[in-house]
Amino acid sequence: MENTQRFINENKDRFLEELFALLRIPSISADTAYKQDMVTAAEYVKKKLEEAGANNVEVCPTPGHPIVYGEKIIDPSLPTILVYGHYDVQPAVPLELWTTPPFDPTIRNERIYARGACDDKGQVYMHVKAFEAMMKNGELPCNIKFMIEGEEETGSTNLGPFCIANKEKLKSDVILISDTSMLANDIPSIDVGLRGLSYVEVELTGPNRDLHSGVYGGAVANPINILTKMIASMHDENNHITIPGFYDDVIALSAEERAEMAKAPFDLEAYKKDLDIADAWGEKGYSIMERTGTRPTLDVNGIWGGYTGEGSKTVLPSKAFAKISMRLVPNQNSDKITRLFTEHFKRIAPAGVKVEVTPHHGGDPVLTPTDSLEFKAASMAIEKTFGKNPIPTRGGGSIPIVALFERELGVKSVLMGFGLDIDALHSPNESYGLFNFYKGIETIPYFFKYYTELKKA
Ligand code: BES
Ligand code: MN
Ligand code: MN
Repeated sequence: MENTQRFINENKDRFLEELFALLRIPSISADTAYKQDMVTAAEYVKKKLEEAGANNVEVCPTPGHPIVYGEKIIDPSLPTILVYGHYDVQPAVPLELWTTPPFDPTIRNERIYARGACDDKGQVYMHVKAFEAMMKNGELPCNIKFMIEGEEETGSTNLGPFCIANKEKLKSDVILISDTSMLANDIPSIDVGLRGLSYVEVELTGPNRDLHSGVYGGAVANPINILTKMIASMHDENNHITIPGFYDDVIALSAEERAEMAKAPFDLEAYKKDLDIADAWGEKGYSIMERTGTRPTLDVNGIWGGYTGEGSKTVLPSKAFAKISMRLVPNQNSDKITRLFTEHFKRIAPAGVKVEVTPHHGGDPVLTPTDSLEFKAASMAIEKTFGKNPIPTRGGGSIPIVALFERELGVKSVLMGFGLDIDALHSPNESYGLFNFYKGIETIPYFFKYYTELKKA
């Protein structure tokens, strides 16, 4: 891998410029106004994969946004690594909170500021460049396939059917994903778990029209009052979730597992300072790392209704809405939790309001083994470039398709992510460290090398 590493070192500036071009494309999957930009981003990834040396590169249309596929099969008898990532990004609003515009990538204090800098364009591009470096130096040790989708941030709606319809094409030994974070640059870690997700939208209707809040107030159920009360009732005084059956399938961690987790360094003061909060919050009896990595949650992501314009309008609103997400842990099932939520939510509503629950996307939680070849290869690669063995951690976020990869393709994933918590994913001023971008490009070829060697042994 020496030539590969030298090549990476000599091409750093070009790699960054090419990433910038990708970051300038506003590929926001959630907003139909950017549909054409999604195609532009997919075409850009295709072009770069081709230039790097991939074959059979295609932009595969779906009923939603396209999936980019490409491959390099050097010898069918060698192992095949499937690289998965996403070129879509979250909406960048509120724009006024960005120091520099989200789609005008800028370097400040050794960091790349742009929407998607870390999640996931920066991390996807590390793979494209690591591949190019191995190809140009004749050091690609095994077969590689790329599947870069454009709907991760909206729940990967069309990727599941694509996988099921293309099982032969996607055949691989392992799926390699860089779309997660590490504890710190000097405390490398590998996520071995991801939370699942159930996401619902609720609509409460009280009276058939907005009413005068004086004439009717006090005698007619106000759907916003009711909605907030219903939401508040879904956590008890210990911040446990009160939906009956919600925890039934949760696998409790053993005392050993909890002790192991507690070894990962965590600085509560730094955490509070970063977020400018006087205290943390959460389920009684669990540490912060346990709360985000191993416990399920219920959170309101947005809530609206009634009058929110300038000044005041005395109105008793007809409707109230909220978007609610539940993060799930092994062995919870997304569809089951959506059903339990819906039943409970309808049950606790008073007769004065009508309730509608609409499920959005979801996904099941995953655990990846630590005694696997791929975990070993990722550990060795990180040890090689970071000089430290990575700690296994559980990520609080979700990549819904990972559970499906295992279920439908029968292939396990390894989550070799290079982000940090300070990267501000989904927030204003998202960023990605130059250190992390380049370290990722250096580390990936070693994963290929060690995985191939371990697989042959
Ligand atoms: N890359 C993240 C997931 C992530 C981030 C996992 C950090 C672990 C650590 C991914 O792009 C993401 O944001 N997923 C969504 C899922 C969704 C919109 C269905 C999430 O977790 O909210
Ligand atoms: Mn992501
Ligand atoms: Mn994301």
